[in-house]
Amino acid sequence: MTVTPETGRWDSLAAARTRGDVGDGIASVLALLGLPDLISFAGGFPDPATFPRERVATLLQEFVAAGEMSAFQYAPTRGLAGPLDVFADRLESLQGRRPAEDELLITSGAIEALELVGKSFLDPGDLVVVEGPTYLGAIQAFRSFEAELVAVPLDEHGLDVDELERRLAGGLRPKLVYSIPDHQNPAGVSLAAERRAPLVELARQYRFLIIEDVAYRELGFAADALPSLWSLAPDVVVQAGTTSKTFCPGVRLGWAVGPADISARLVSAKQTTDQCAGALGQRLFEESARRGWIDEQVALSRALYERKCERLLAALERFMPEGAHWTRPQGGFFSWLTLPDGVDSAELARRAVERGVGIVPGTLFFPDGRGTDTVRLSFSLVDEALIDDGIERLASLL
Ligand SMILES: Cc1ncc(COP(=O)(O)O)c(C=O)c1O
Repeated sequence: MTVTPETGRWDSLAAARTRGDVGDGIASVLALLGLPDLISFAGGFPDPATFPRERVATLLQEFVAAGEMSAFQYAPTRGLAGPLDVFADRLESLQGRRPAEDELLITSGAIEALELVGKSFLDPGDLVVVEGPTYLGAIQAFRSFEAELVAVPLDEHGLDVDELERRLAGGLRPKLVYSIPDHQNPAGVSLAAERRAPLVELARQYRFLIIEDVAYRELGFAADALPSLWSLAPDVVVQAGTTSKTFCPGVRLGWAVGPADISARLVSAKQTTDQCAGALGQRLFEESARRGWIDEQVALSRALYERKCERLLAALERFMPEGAHWTRPQGGFFSWLTLPDGVDSAELARRAVERGVGIVPGTLFFPDGRGTDTVRLSFSLVDEALIDDGIERLASLL
């Protein structure tokens, strides 16, 4: 007998932590991408035009010709020395602080960094504060450790730090506060400079750990970036980063950097997830970074995504009815659309698919069912030439 979710045959054997409201979350979002001819604003995938296929082919040939072994072998759990050096170089040049050797580890993507943090810090019932809305993968990762999630709202300047402070003063005691300060997924907003220092001060005062996710940090449309939370407060921040948006997600690679004792715990947790991030990907990224290829790719990607974003914003301006409003991203992949009064985003998403348009209802990005009048629009993967048509079709349903 084939065991499908419908049969539920193994439900009684499943671990309690899988029975929470984990659902199929990201999987259902990605499934929308599979439909033929869909103009999809759904998934947050990078545009394949940015992938360095030929350069990767060149590097693979070089590795073979040079008799390179490390790329094909197991790596130390913390990462290979060369790639660790490159990640440290990039943190130093892009964020102004070079991590000590025992503060940094290479992960299999940012999602694994979140998983390692959860595995190391969360017991059932522990409290995690997230932004409302936040990255769906983080909701799933923290929930899988049976943590309780509390969403603190954000506005066009990022997390409402004053509101967080009020809740802390009122007795809220999180172990972790998870934030995406730059070009947030899904809201497309960034944490204002003047909110960053107060946020890390709260972490010191109330003794929680900040998990800073910098997935889109390098994809600002302007070259300058605000100070990362980790660079402001390496004593209370663990930063999770990824090469998925700056190199390619086919290489599952990222980093976690934080206080040495925490980093040691993450390394220990990693020994039983995948033991080490794939050495081949580590070496491909290392060589690409050393040759300046990553910087070149990031510059091209920024320009591409800025163009697509402008096109999306212009289409929204042109076609959306009164009562709808949306964020104006300065980088990243997403704009956050608030629908006119009374429109339900789940219902809209269903009708949009019938009209050949993919969107993600905002409720998926809240741990508490809020967001029924919001939609995430991703401009990263959609064909530029179809953006106007897609938004016109969506607007016609409102
Ligand atoms: C905010 C955020 N964090 C992490 C990730 C996952 O990154 P990775 O591919 O490195 O696991 C994503 C991907 O969509 C993301 O949007």
